[in-house]
Amino acid sequence: MKFPDRRGYFGDYGGRFVPETLVPALQELEREFRHARRDRKFRAELDHYLRQYAGRPTALTFASTLTRLLRGARIYLKREDLAFTGAHKINNCLGQILLAKRMGKKRIIAETGAGQHGVATATVAAKFGMPCTIYMGEDDIERQALNVFRMELLGATVVPVKSGSRTLKDAIDEAMRDWVTNVRDTHFVLGSVAGAHPYPLIVREFQRVIGRETKRQILRREGRVPDCLIACVGGGSNAIGFFYDFLSCRKVRMYGVEAGGLGIASGRHAARFSGGRPGVFQGSLSYVLQDRAGQIRTTHSISAGLDYAGVGPEHSYLYETGRVRYVNVSDRKAVEGFMLLSETEGIIPALESAHAIAYAREVVPKMKKGEIVIINVSGRGDKDVEIIEKFIKNRV
Ligand SMILES: Cc1ncc(COP(=O)(O)O)c(C=O)c1O
Repeated sequence: MKFPDRRGYFGDYGGRFVPETLVPALQELEREFRHARRDRKFRAELDHYLRQYAGRPTALTFASTLTRLLRGARIYLKREDLAFTGAHKINNCLGQILLAKRMGKKRIIAETGAGQHGVATATVAAKFGMPCTIYMGEDDIERQALNVFRMELLGATVVPVKSGSRTLKDAIDEAMRDWVTNVRDTHFVLGSVAGAHPYPLIVREFQRVIGRETKRQILRREGRVPDCLIACVGGGSNAIGFFYDFLSCRKVRMYGVEAGGLGIASGRHAARFSGGRPGVFQGSLSYVLQDRAGQIRTTHSISAGLDYAGVGPEHSYLYETGRVRYVNVSDRKAVEGFMLLSETEGIIPALESAHAIAYAREVVPKMKKGEIVIINVSGRGDKDVEIIEKFIKNRV
């Protein structure tokens, strides 16, 4: 593995920009992770929980109706919506709770945007008997009420964050504040490939199971690797987990889909690679949406999980090297993607994943009949049905 380097950099991006008090905790986490990944017992235990608890491997479904409709490449869906708790987030949470246990931590905290990471964290905390506090922006609490109730049912305390834009960025700030105060006995289960080193490395490694399975499954089904992969990018964990094991296959084209919100020109979006530039934000150097003075810009997306000013540093590296192409789709197109998958395949996707579906609708018709595209369906859409209902009613 070439990246990150020993200092936690992916090319120019990454690093560890945190208060002094957190440095020993991050060093301990890195040390523990490096030991754990070489430890056969740890790997076997994680594998056990992924299979017996989270329901892996998830299916790779051929989308026959959508393939017929779009008249281009053959479309497969990697079904992270079928993982326990309804999204890919559970893969990382299981890995991190086992690390927390190894480090003797007694309490779990996390941030959440769409609530899927909060639900997954609350789930593993319940399973492993640890008290759990989840920080969530007030706006997200309102739009993802179903997931708030799920977290509470699981015994977690959900703390509303009233500051700033009252979304994911502010939830991360609050969780960091808690961690600085309680670092001795608390583990912070960060939910994406963002933040200070070693989080982007750890979360990527726990999410690599998505791409590893996909590769095995498509080789068995089609006898070759796909021509194209598409995934949505919030912090970037489902995308990097899906892409990583294909990065060395030079012929596989990859698209990361960001939230275009109300359009790039409107300024109300979360497309870091179209409207942002490098800066230090929440622990690492990466592309960030900021104004001229370096103040973080308020973001907008219909999807709470993509509504974030920063992006994982490895994505910034993959953007600059050109290995992955980053595109964006608007709220309106994402809703169309949501409806399209629901109506053609009977799969109601998360609004985050619907961005990937919407982009597939643009690229697939331009591809050849024999080509293969795989879309990562990062989660299921139960949490989003009220948002869709409102969106449709407002347009009528
Ligand atoms: C279903 C789903 N997909 C994608 C994301 C975006 O996160 P990431 O880019 O880390 O996969 C979220 C975040 O909440 C999510 O719930």
